[in-house]
Order: sequence, then structure tokens, then C-alpha cells
Amino acid sequence: MSSLNNVHFKFLPMSMRVLFSMVLLVFGLAYCMAMIQVWESHAGKDGDPMLSGKDLMIAYGGNPNGTKLETALRGPMADMLPAEKRQMIFDWLHNGAKPEEIEAKINPVLQEHCVACHNPEANPHLPNFSKADGLKTVTAKDEGMTIPTLVRVSHIHLFSITFIFFIVGFIFTHALIRPTWLKCVVIATPFLTLITDIASWYLTKVWEGFAWAVIISGALMGTAFTIMWFTSMYQMWIGKVPQDVGEDGKIPCIR
Ligand code: HEC
Repeated sequence: MSSLNNVHFKFLPMSMRVLFSMVLLVFGLAYCMAMIQVWESHAGKDGDPMLSGKDLMIAYGGNPNGTKLETALRGPMADMLPAEKRQMIFDWLHNGAKPEEIEAKINPVLQEHCVACHNPEANPHLPNFSKADGLKTVTAKDEGMTIPTLVRVSHIHLFSITFIFFIVGFIFTHALIRPTWLKCVVIATPFLTLITDIASWYLTKVWEGFAWAVIISGALMGTAFTIMWFTSMYQMWIGKVPQDVGEDGKIPCIR
């Protein structure tokens, strides 16, 4: 049993290879879904439909020049109303969001284009625009994700992603990669970048440049996942037994 980790894929029982492959298959799908989710929830916050560093700065750190209302109207809510009414709302916000103008200028737009979804019956989790003071919650300065939200998301991430990369990394230990240090770097990368990723969510609140650390961490994590996924699948099913692997299937330890 102590030598199990050193056995090359080709020498593992068929049942184990099938198990490993199925796990990788589902994790691969899950990874794609996670990427779509990141895109859906962050892209377009800065007005440009692509996902950018600016989007993440706004998502985590908030938008010093804006409000939740403006961020939403430049992002996911942009198509909910005609452009000139949207501009009218921006002008109102930029001129100090005067409360005395709400009734005549802003409320009619909300009633016509927004209340269908933004009312407690339709969706209790959205800001309620059926009453005038529902607007207040989205016209305060956009501070990004709150610390309690970040804490909730980070502990889930830390537990679940560690679990995923333990399994993927464990499968990958059966691959032959030279030099050995490279194999170790690939195995360690997701865990280290998980820490830098999550730390950067908080640090983006202090200095928005840390949004780039979020992006770089995510990119490195994805690269490590891709390398482990394809190398494992390839060496398990397609590649021939590499020359370095001994007669007994063992991957030599030292090198
Ligand atoms: C078709 C339903 C629908 C309509 C119409 C709609 N919204 Fe939304 N709105 C949503 C949903 C769903 C969300 C939350 C998901 C998201 O952010 O994409 C949301 C989120 C928001 C948010 C962000 C709330 C927050 O707490 O971060 C704001 C602000 C907002 N909408 C404003 C508006 C305004 C202003 C209008 C009218 C011009 C409007 N919405 C029209 C469905 C709608």
C-alpha cells in the first residue's frame, strides 16, 4: 500500500482507472460550469461586456464613482429600459441623487420598467421599487461585496476546492512527469493560488490593484487543473508506458 502512490497509471487495476477517469470527467464539467458562473456574475459591471480586472475590482472592492444602481444599469439591468431614460437616471445620480426629484422623474421609470420584477411578490430578494424608499438601498455608494458575504464564500471555497484538488492531485501522482520538481509544483499550485485568490478578495477592498492577483491566481489554478486533467487522462488511456517506469510499474523516486 505504501508504494501505491508510485505506481504508474498503466499498472493500476482497470476498475481504479475507470473510477479516476469518471471523477475527472465530472470535475472537468464542474470546472466549466464554475467559469460560466464567474462570467455571469461579474462580466459587464464596468460597462464593457467582457470580463475584466475592472469588473472584479467593482465586484469585490466596490465602485468609488458609482452606486449599486449605476453598476446594475451599466451591467445586467442595461437592457431593461430605453437608453435615454437610463441616461436620465445617471444624470440624476451624478447631480447628487436629489430625493425631491424622485417622485416626478425617477419613480415613473421604475414603475414602468422595473417594478414587474422588483417587488416583494415577484422576487423578495431584490430591492423593492414598488415603494419609493426601496431606491435608497441601491443609491448608496457601491462598497462591493460585504465582509460577511466574503467570509461566507471564502470558507465554502477553502473547504470545497481543497477537496477537489486533493482528489485531482492524488490521481495525478500516478503520472510520470520529469523533472519531479515540476510535478510537485503543479500539485502545489492550486492550493497556494487558492490562498492568494481568497486573500486578494479582501485586499481588493484596500487597494483595487489586487483584483489582478484574483485573476492571476485563478488563471494559474486553471492551468494546473488543465495540466493534471489532460496528463492523467492521456497517460491513463492513450500514452504508452513511459521508459522510466520500472518492470513492476513503479515510478522511480529519485530524480
Ligand atoms: C425581468 C426582471 C427584472 C427587471 C424588469 C428589472 N430587474 Fe433589476 N434585477 C433583476 C434580477 C433577477 C436581479 C438580480 C440578479 C442580477 O444582478 O443580475 C436584479 C438586480 C438589480 C439590481 C442590483 C441589486 C443589488 O442589490 O445589487 C439593481 C440596482 C436593479 N436590478 C435595478 C433595476 C432597475 C433600475 C430596473 C428598471 C430599469 C430593473 N432592475 C429591472 C430582475 C429585473
